[in-house]
Amino acid sequence: MRKPIMAANWKMNKTHLEAIHYIEELRNRLHHKAYDRCDVVICPPFTAIRSVQTVVDADELPMAVGAQNMYWEDSGAFTGEVSHEMLTKMNVKFVILGHSERREHFHESDEAVNNKVKTALDNDITPIVCVGETLTEREAGFTNDKVGSQILEGLKGLDDERVGRMVIAYEPIWAIGTGRTATPDDAQETISKIRGYVREVYPGAADAVRIQYGGSVNTGNVDDLMAQEDVDGALVGGASLDPVQFARIVEYE
Ligand code: PGA
Repeated sequence: MRKPIMAANWKMNKTHLEAIHYIEELRNRLHHKAYDRCDVVICPPFTAIRSVQTVVDADELPMAVGAQNMYWEDSGAFTGEVSHEMLTKMNVKFVILGHSERREHFHESDEAVNNKVKTALDNDITPIVCVGETLTEREAGFTNDKVGSQILEGLKGLDDERVGRMVIAYEPIWAIGTGRTATPDDAQETISKIRGYVREVYPGAADAVRIQYGGSVNTGNVDDLMAQEDVDGALVGGASLDPVQFARIVEYE
């Protein structure tokens, strides 16, 4: 049985004070049984990680903190980048890697994503690796080719044990921030394909790896998405900025 994982991707939103208020509100909204049923991960900007962690620690909240990016080198002359050690020393347990916004605006290649994935897994940070197709690729029938190659390249050189520990997020680019969600059937179909691609290379990991859906997940569609056999959680952007909405998403029915 795979434990579902619900992750909030705040992107470039919220100051550190706004982050504190958010976590306090989320704490008040979430029932304790929600944490038993699924993992809850908050991915604030780097500047708010410490503030989020302070509330989580003070109240012993069973939620994890994630980062939205990380560089693969240990340290050095890489102005503007953040290393695995900087994250683990702040008790960061997850990192979103290869988000489509980073691939598009910051030209992150599959090779860069692969380097980051290896570094994260070797340093006890669970990567949430994002894959997904554009609308043009979808309409041309290339969805499976695109996500298949992102999986093969992004997960190159690993092994069953490490792949089994990671999280993959299927995020069709046309559904991100657009209010257009993949239908539950479409999400299920592509996610089960992704599990199949993982199985081809890492047969021992395919049943263990958790695969989320992301792209305009909200309080109205989360229940149907989570009812799908292969959907192991959600990576939530816009709707995660409101603690009331994110609490409802975490407590999907
Ligand atoms: P969205 O973003 O929920 O606003 O579509 C999801 C994501 O980009 O992770």
